[in-house]
Amino acid sequence: MSSAVLVGTQWGDEGKGKICDLVAPEFDCVVRYQGGNNAGHTIVCGDKKFGLHLVPSGIMYESVTPVIGNGVVVDPKVLIEEIDMLENEGVSTKNLKVSGNAHIIMPYHRDLDGAFEQSLGKHNIGTTKRGIGPCYQDKMARIGLRMQDLLDEGIFRERCGVALERVNPQLELLYHLPTYTVDQLWDEFSAYAERLRPYICESSLLLNNMLEDGKSILFEGAQATLLDIDHGTYPYVTSSNCTAGGSVTGSGVGMKNIDRVLGIMKAYITRVGMGPMPTELSYDDECGHTLTEVGGEYGVTTGRRRRCGWFDGPIARYSTRINGLTDIALTKLDVLSAFDTIPVCVAYDCDGVRYTSVPEHQALFAKAKPVYQEVPGWREDITGCRSYEELPQAARDYVDLVEELAGCRVSIIAVGPDREQTIMRSWN
Ligand code: GDP
Ligand code: IMO
Ligand code: MG
Repeated sequence: MSSAVLVGTQWGDEGKGKICDLVAPEFDCVVRYQGGNNAGHTIVCGDKKFGLHLVPSGIMYESVTPVIGNGVVVDPKVLIEEIDMLENEGVSTKNLKVSGNAHIIMPYHRDLDGAFEQSLGKHNIGTTKRGIGPCYQDKMARIGLRMQDLLDEGIFRERCGVALERVNPQLELLYHLPTYTVDQLWDEFSAYAERLRPYICESSLLLNNMLEDGKSILFEGAQATLLDIDHGTYPYVTSSNCTAGGSVTGSGVGMKNIDRVLGIMKAYITRVGMGPMPTELSYDDECGHTLTEVGGEYGVTTGRRRRCGWFDGPIARYSTRINGLTDIALTKLDVLSAFDTIPVCVAYDCDGVRYTSVPEHQALFAKAKPVYQEVPGWREDITGCRSYEELPQAARDYVDLVEELAGCRVSIIAVGPDREQTIMRSWN
């Protein structure tokens, strides 16, 4: 298998964890390239269920080297807790590698995330409050600390001092929050440094050496296309490039190495946090309630109820374009078995103009009215289907409609949370 990017195509929680875990054994390495512990990726294998926030979903296989790339922001405490959780469950983390260039989420980043959200009032983003935005902000402002800084007390203290000169006045004067000292932070972080030292490496070199040896890499995206800082529904986005392009900058691998881009697409749509969502259904609406409860649409990271709506064709087409998708994994098709008929958004009406892709101007997108095509449901349990041919005709038609709207082939169909509950169509 050649190298591939795996990317979320909607607003996150499409089932990236499940599909990544499923295809990971075909690769020698799985590298996370952006985001942090705002992500929650679920893997279900038999009676075991894992919710991963930082560790790449390839961790389940000894043959796969899991790498946390330079584009990721790492909360060391969360990483250590995740390593301990996996080891306690009998999953080895001995092959795990963390880029020395990955930025560290500091305690003040979490404080500032909460304070920024509060100060935004009704314009708040609905972040996960994990410190993601403030950490990327400091990275861009060139006052961030990186994983390699943990390995040298002198450098850590120096970098920390520089950061605190800017951060402390903000905490104290703007938000009336406690400030930090370098000593206090080194006390806490020196313990993390000792635990994480064996994992920290020059990951770009490692990845490129693997490629030179003919090995293959799966680049695991977190969040999703419409949460991308450049291509998402700004400002209601996360602070990194979740789209396929982020895979190269977030890992230090050249573009010529990527052969396929697999978009993970839910058979309907969900969103956590604020911002526009044209096909949203209220939780009080019978269908909205059914999608939420049958789909189990509650966040892995924050436990928040996800906003649910019908499949959005313009978003699918936009994602195909922005990411250069070559394949789609359509997930949670089984959830739609609960409906007699299924509305599918085939276009938007924005002030009387029809759009089949997401309009770039946010004012237009905010007032996009979905144009629905109502298609027949199948009202049949499909969780046992293992081939496209075994699916009821109406479910096959639904898959075909997704392909047509997205403009990309559906190569994998997921019909349940377990690894086994999957139809491999044209991925291999
Ligand atoms: P991610 O963030 O994209 O990895 O997705 P999450 O793990 O946050 O949310 C996806 C949820 O749907 C998890 O609970 C998965 O176990 C579950 N899931 C994934 N694929 C399927 C599927 O095809 N059918 C059903 N019913 N559940 C699925
Ligand atoms: P996975 O990888 C769904 C959302 C937050 C908020 C916005 C910004 O599991 O799909 P942040 O804390 O990143 O600054 O919040 O992005 N968000 C996600 N929504 N799935 C995720 O990750 C998300 N990560 C962030 O809810 O709206
Ligand atoms: Mg998730």
